Amino acid sequence: MSKSADLRINDQSYSLDIITGTEQEQAIDVSNLRKESKFITFDDGYGNTGSCESSVTYIDGDSGILRYRGYDITELAEKSNFLETCHLLLYGELPTADELGLLEQRISKFANLPDEVLSTINALPSSAHPMAVLSCGLQALGGAFPELATNDRKKDIENFDDAAALIISATRSITASRYRHQHGKPIIPSDSSKGYCDNFLSMMFSSETGQSGVPEQVSNALDLIFLLHADHEQNCSTSTCRMIASGGANPFASVAGATSALWGPLHGGANMAVIRMLNEIHESGDDGSRFVESAKLGKSRLMGFGHRVYRNYDPRAKILKSACDDALEALGVSSPILEIARKLEEVALQDPYFIQRKLYPNVDFYSGIILQALGFPTDTFTVLFAIGRTPGWLAHWREIALTGKKIHRPRQIYQGSNLRSYTPLSER
Ligand code: SDX
Repeated sequence: MSKSADLRINDQSYSLDIITGTEQEQAIDVSNLRKESKFITFDDGYGNTGSCESSVTYIDGDSGILRYRGYDITELAEKSNFLETCHLLLYGELPTADELGLLEQRISKFANLPDEVLSTINALPSSAHPMAVLSCGLQALGGAFPELATNDRKKDIENFDDAAALIISATRSITASRYRHQHGKPIIPSDSSKGYCDNFLSMMFSSETGQSGVPEQVSNALDLIFLLHADHEQNCSTSTCRMIASGGANPFASVAGATSALWGPLHGGANMAVIRMLNEIHESGDDGSRFVESAKLGKSRLMGFGHRVYRNYDPRAKILKSACDDALEALGVSSPILEIARKLEEVALQDPYFIQRKLYPNVDFYSGIILQALGFPTDTFTVLFAIGRTPGWLAHWREIALTGKKIHRPRQIYQGSNLRSYTPLSER
């Protein structure tokens, strides 16, 4: 494989290094292009541009491959669990029993929110979206633990283990506390005898007597959803997390910013949009065929379909599609919208419009059906995506902090007015 690329501009040649990754991906290094040629590259939406070298997650979009630190998502989904995966993403290795125990202890230690954080999130307007509450709650949390959010990179790295455990723990508590507050119910304190998901389900839905009784299949389904969402290399929200980290900001600020980026309907907000789309199709009496036609005409978008990287089936969607059956059977619930989702997929995957554009179901297409069956309100679905993605965001914060990369500062091509002189008000 060649080690460099030659670029010719106006009879001037430039030799650019080629970077090759451990999976043989290749990039042309343009880090010095502007200094040498005064040219920059332009790539609308960054579809062809690598912002960094990273060791956290590998995706092969053409083959539908997703690996966390080298472990394939299908094997992790079958053999591992969310907390093991948190350790794997954060520190690069599957934990020993002692390391897992230490992570569990740290997460339990931080499970109940400080009163000032509770009062902050519950002071937000009642119509504030759960994603806005989560983002705000994370910043408040950093304020409640200033020793973990110093913006002094050396100190923030030294305190990272506690900061990461606190944030991974608190995303649940912020979500559950706000949900209970919104529904006029008393807060259910964390029960450290329960596992991560059991404890979260208990904090969300336990009856006032505190009886848990969460069926194992329910917490297993949630654990799988969190594991499948845990990281996905340089997506919109993770790139935002890295952008904030590159300026030296602390993990709370980076994860709060990433939470805001995830909220959009084209990104993590799609799981809420999928359920609303399926419910609208169900209520209209359409089996999905009419909706697919409207999507082909650009009148609507088939939410949960398509992906910038996957030009094949999103491996997470494949796992979630089969998990749907198991979860619904275990819960003894039927879901009319699952049948519509299946019909949409069947129709779309045979239609040239979707085939030509390589549009397949993505992680959001089936996840909402399981979350709805687990009893979560639709407006919490993207928060649940964020809870799952938090270890990934933290792993990328740590990677930036440890490698000490330069602050992210993209360039632009200016298309505004050329120089002009001030016109006095009287002459305007
Ligand atoms: C996530 O990046 C990540 O890794 C994200 C994520 C993660 O784990 O972090 O995987 C999570 O965000 C998954 C994606 C969730 N979003 C949705 O499901 C929303 C619906 N999908 C789309 O809006 C779209 O597919 C995107 C945003 C996901 C990708 O957009 P691209 O790569 O910019 O593609 P595009 O919008 O340029 O579309 C290319 C063509 C267009 O048609 P033409 O202009 O060529 O005629 O495909 C069409 C689009 O109109 N198209 C769709 C479509 N998605 C793309 N048409 C109908 N329905 C869709 N869903």
